[in-house]
Amino acid sequence: MRILITGASGQLGGYLLRALRDHGGEVVAWSRSRAGELFGRVPHPIDLADARAVEAAFDEARPEVVIHAAAMARVSDCHADPEKAHRVNAAATATLAGLAARRGARFVYVSTDLVFGGDRGRYAEADAPSPLSEYGRSKAAGEVAALAVPRAVVARVSLLYGPSLVGRPTFFDEQVAALRGGRPVTLFADEHRSPLDLASAAVALLELAKSGFVGVLHVGGPERISRLEMGQRLAEHLGLAREGIVAMRRDEAPAPEPRPRDVSLDSSRWRHAFPTLSWPTYGEALLILCPVTPVPPSAASAPAAPS
Ligand SMILES: NC(=O)c1ccc[n+]([C@@H]2O[C@H](COP(=O)([O-])OP(=O)(O)OC[C@H]3O[C@@H](n4cnc5c(N)ncnc54)[C@H](OP(=O)(O)O)[C@@H]3O)[C@@H](O)[C@H]2O)c1
Repeated sequence: MRILITGASGQLGGYLLRALRDHGGEVVAWSRSRAGELFGRVPHPIDLADARAVEAAFDEARPEVVIHAAAMARVSDCHADPEKAHRVNAAATATLAGLAARRGARFVYVSTDLVFGGDRGRYAEADAPSPLSEYGRSKAAGEVAALAVPRAVVARVSLLYGPSLVGRPTFFDEQVAALRGGRPVTLFADEHRSPLDLASAAVALLELAKSGFVGVLHVGGPERISRLEMGQRLAEHLGLAREGIVAMRRDEAPAPEPRPRDVSLDSSRWRHAFPTLSWPTYGEALLILCPVTPVPPSAASAPAAPS
């Protein structure tokens, strides 16, 4: 199976390439500008905003499966340049989906929980998107473009977390560094998500790509938790004081676009279809992502040596 991964140099892309290390077939990786080998593959720089370049590179790649993970993925960047956000996240998705359909290739579009407005949470696949941001609007438009071709999949992934594999720190890395360095981390108490670790998300997307599933699927974690609680659990896991995490409300932080209150996903359809895939809680994932050496009970209870 020849697989094309767009956004291969991104946070999710790195995990996709790692999961494909032992893939017997050919893997073609694209980035926008970042090159350099990642898990044995060197991404080709292809600007998705350049439809002609995309078409030529696609013909060369001849994929049977496309996992389209590339995006202008920062909410603030999309707000600053909505026209570019739509060109990259929506128009380029339409181009790629059309090219995939022409070749009879399967098309998996990586979408986001931020296509929802956050007014009620635990969103199911049948719920109508109601994005609050330019990012969410451009990704929702990408979904429409993807679903216009046969055999396409829209995988709406939730907030993803984990250490970076691509050399650029993730928000998770930054939080760990700040906590270990004694710097405070401010997080929203009133923003709820259903986070999933990057490794599980990558494997889920690859299994989805290999399967016959068609349509929209929510790929989120098993818990609905606030950003604040995530930070507090991380601090506790690292053996650091919860006080390093400072609570804030969304209305205390000025932002050019409204922030959703609760975009947690109901992922039961995915779980029903792929029950054997890994689905760790945040706590379970932390044990793997940041192993901590337990203090032996004898050492923990031993009296301090006199100085
Ligand atoms: N991270 C999350 O929590 C999360 C949650 C829900 C959904 N998602 C979705 O998951 C996907 C991956 O997100 P991510 O966090 O891995 O994003 P990321 O780290 O920002 O990576 C984005 C990737 O897209 C590429 N890209 C950006 N603009 C491009 C352009 N004009 N032409 C070609 N490639 C371009 C980047 O290439 P360069 O590295 O060369 O710039 C990079 O490989 C996105 O579709 C995003 O919407 C992410």
